[in-house]
Amino acid sequence: MNNIAIFGYGTVGKGVYELTKNNPLFKVAAIFDKPEKKEELHNLLVTDIDSIILDKSIDTVVECLGGDSLPHEVIIKSLKNKKNVVTSNKETISKHLSEYLRLANENQVSIQFEASVGGGIPLIYPLTIQSDFDEIFEVKGILNGTSNFILTKMSDEKMDKNEAIKLAQEKGFAEKDPTADLEGIDMVRKGCILASLITKKEIHNEDILHFGISNLNASMIAEVASRGKVLKLITDIKVSDKGTSVIVLPVAIDKNSPLAQVKNEYNGVLILGKYQEPLTFIGKGAGKNPTASAIVSDLVRINKKIAYPYPDLKPYYPLTSDLKGKYLLFSKESLKEVNDPTEQELKAAMFIARVE
Ligand SMILES: NC(=O)c1ccc[n+]([C@@H]2O[C@H](COP(=O)([O-])OP(=O)(O)OC[C@H]3O[C@@H](n4cnc5c(N)ncnc54)[C@H](OP(=O)(O)O)[C@@H]3O)[C@@H](O)[C@H]2O)c1
Repeated sequence: MNNIAIFGYGTVGKGVYELTKNNPLFKVAAIFDKPEKKEELHNLLVTDIDSIILDKSIDTVVECLGGDSLPHEVIIKSLKNKKNVVTSNKETISKHLSEYLRLANENQVSIQFEASVGGGIPLIYPLTIQSDFDEIFEVKGILNGTSNFILTKMSDEKMDKNEAIKLAQEKGFAEKDPTADLEGIDMVRKGCILASLITKKEIHNEDILHFGISNLNASMIAEVASRGKVLKLITDIKVSDKGTSVIVLPVAIDKNSPLAQVKNEYNGVLILGKYQEPLTFIGKGAGKNPTASAIVSDLVRINKKIAYPYPDLKPYYPLTSDLKGKYLLFSKESLKEVNDPTEQELKAAMFIARVE
């Protein structure tokens, strides 16, 4: 049995508690959150990090706080004190994966982060295993439910963008300020994690070129539809002898392609390797139960001693940006079709989409 402590009793933390509290594999020994949660959590509530860290009976920490500064402190202290860590936090994993893996290996414990990319989709574990024997040359993912929901409503129901954002907020899919989702920043972090796992090298968020959908309007959607395509915001990772390219960008994809069927708040990922036919993973990318399920699958693997033993990442590895292909460059007044554009040309446009 694992004695676990959950840090953060919000959407995800609550889901983890509900899924583990009656499971004989686990005992929830403590939950860290603010003093206001006392009435709900009674004696399980702990408001001081170090009393959990110094408690030798707790062997595994589940980090569900969000953000980077406090999670970084909690994760570092937990690993140094020989506790396994499971987290759903793409921000802290994408920024510090190299440091976390080094500390986990030094202290002979495990850090697992299945829920940090694709929410409830079992993606990281199979992708990591496959990258140990196959040559993965491309991973294409719709990895943000908010932007996919907005794109689906604009394309399928001709909804105005602001109306779609409002609906996403009402349904709890979009934050009050959805900029990070619309600008592709959330998908940069997820791309960084996946690319680090495929290459086993340290990759930085700052090196990932990204284009979002903040400037998208109905006439651009109509232009894409007139070509028999549908618009998706995609994280595209390409690995070749020339290097690794990671870009987040809107792509006009064929209406019949597998990723075109990924609608609303769902996520979808296509993996292309040398020894596998294209593999498609589709599922809910966020939400209490899907995210908690991915976390608990990591906890079960730790309990059964089958958690993936991630090696240390090799040193910092600069990325390239593969801009080959046909692009639509929208400005206020015009639309240009350009083959193999430069980064500057893309950045100068009001909205861009690669055509596939
Ligand atoms: N929600 C999803 O669907 C989803 C999906 C995939 C990944 N994730 C990731 O999972 C993590 C948690 O997300 P969430 O949606 O569960 O967030 P959340 O609902 O905001 O929960 C976070 C909890 O941690 C508490 N907390 C934060 N800072 C604290 C502090 N300094 N001291 C004490 N308590 C503190 C919060 O308390 P207050 O509310 O009082 O601040 C809240 O109870 C994030 O990294 C997120 O990116 C979430």
